Amino acid sequence: MKQHLVKNAIFQIISDQAAQANVKAFAIGGFVRDLLLERPSKDIDIVVEGKGIELAKAVAKQIGNPKVAIFKTYGTAMFNYKGLEIEFVGARKESYQKNSRNPLVEVGTIKEDQDRRDFTINALAISLNKRDYGVLIDPFNGMQDLKDKILKTPLNPEITFSDDPLRMMRGVRFASQLGFSIANDTFEAIKKNASRLDIISKERISVEFNKIMLSKIPSVGLKLLFDSQLLHQFFPEMVRLHGVKKVDGKTHKDNFYHTLQVVDNICPNTDNLWLRWAALLHDVAKPPTQRFDKKVGWTFHGHEVVGARMVPKIFSRLKLPLNEKMKYVQKLVNLHLRPIVIAQDTVSDSAIRRLLFDAGDDIEDLMTLCEADITSKNKYKVAKYLQNFKLVREKLKDVEERDKMRNWQPPINGKDIMDAFQVKPGKEIGMLKNQITEAILEGEIPNERDAAMAFMKQKGTELGLITID
Ligand code: CTP
Repeated sequence: MKQHLVKNAIFQIISDQAAQANVKAFAIGGFVRDLLLERPSKDIDIVVEGKGIELAKAVAKQIGNPKVAIFKTYGTAMFNYKGLEIEFVGARKESYQKNSRNPLVEVGTIKEDQDRRDFTINALAISLNKRDYGVLIDPFNGMQDLKDKILKTPLNPEITFSDDPLRMMRGVRFASQLGFSIANDTFEAIKKNASRLDIISKERISVEFNKIMLSKIPSVGLKLLFDSQLLHQFFPEMVRLHGVKKVDGKTHKDNFYHTLQVVDNICPNTDNLWLRWAALLHDVAKPPTQRFDKKVGWTFHGHEVVGARMVPKIFSRLKLPLNEKMKYVQKLVNLHLRPIVIAQDTVSDSAIRRLLFDAGDDIEDLMTLCEADITSKNKYKVAKYLQNFKLVREKLKDVEERDKMRNWQPPINGKDIMDAFQVKPGKEIGMLKNQITEAILEGEIPNERDAAMAFMKQKGTELGLITID
């Protein structure tokens, strides 16, 4: 342990200042866990048996007085040091009020502080004291749990989770992020207490959920969320995807597990959280659009349109951004079936132009989503579909080179229309613009200004407008 620590001079400085102030200091929590797992970390937590704020100030003085942010209510102080956030806190013997996250803070020892942490692997501490500098303090065998890749709570899980129910989400998140399993009794306690998640804000839930989505194999976390019923507390639309119905001996695939596979499939090809979200939501409207037809069996007509409409409600409830990121997810959900149509031999150029126009710069991401959506177990089918999408990419490239439809703007704009007819802005302008766009996309007129002007004058006249040339 020592050799790791001495690498960063800050620990020696903290150690010296703690000795001078006659208090004990320890590095603790995620930093120690990540050090042992050889993962990078952005912050270091220091626990002090004594006043954390005073020690932070003394250390800051030694390193050129960075700005120290102090939070008196919690007794914490924090500053930045060489790109790391270093936070100091007095050791706490903390208990939480029921139904609230506001802790009642009481001063405690390092052991008491370790007791109240979420998992044994997060309760590891390293002494920064002269007598045993660099020694690992591991009262709960966290080191063994790190080796065994298992998540366990330091205390009875019922107590740990009722202290802060978000820890149940954190447990699933660590399992997904680190590829760890959750100990049986810990998982049983999550199942039992899942409904307690209701006192946690959606923002905090979503932070953990997004970390699961950004992990290497998100289905690990998503399955655990489902099995523990945590998912049921904040994401009923996902839960509804689960299950298979049977009519006249005909079944459909389980859309929950299909979705999980699509998310996993897309991960090696993108770190873009929102593209991963599009994979998560692409079939979200299958349950509400599901019908059984005696002739064709199960259908999900319009699920892409209904799904796109569901996105704002889901994002709003989960306190996810309601900006262009949400619109991007909506767009991909809405368009996710279109490249499949283009894969057919007989598809017209106009369908391809339309897709390029509708997808714009997101066309690549859409293709990535469609390729991830192939989840057949039959490897010949998979190869065939992938080959089809390769052809789609070629067709897209071909039409794009000819027609430059990506980010395309019609060759005449609203002002041209107003000038031609000497009219003020009004609904006719929008109608004419749409007609011109449609005519070009359909290939009725070429993508040229003169042709569009002539078309616009003809259509304007039909609407009763009078040209002035
Ligand atoms: N912690 C806890 N209960 C929580 C949140 C945090 O016991 N609900 C403790 C854990 O000991 C954790 C430490 O506080 O290691 C720091 O928390 P945080 O910075 O949120 O998480 P990390 O464990 O550092 O993990 P990451 O940086 O990946 O979020």
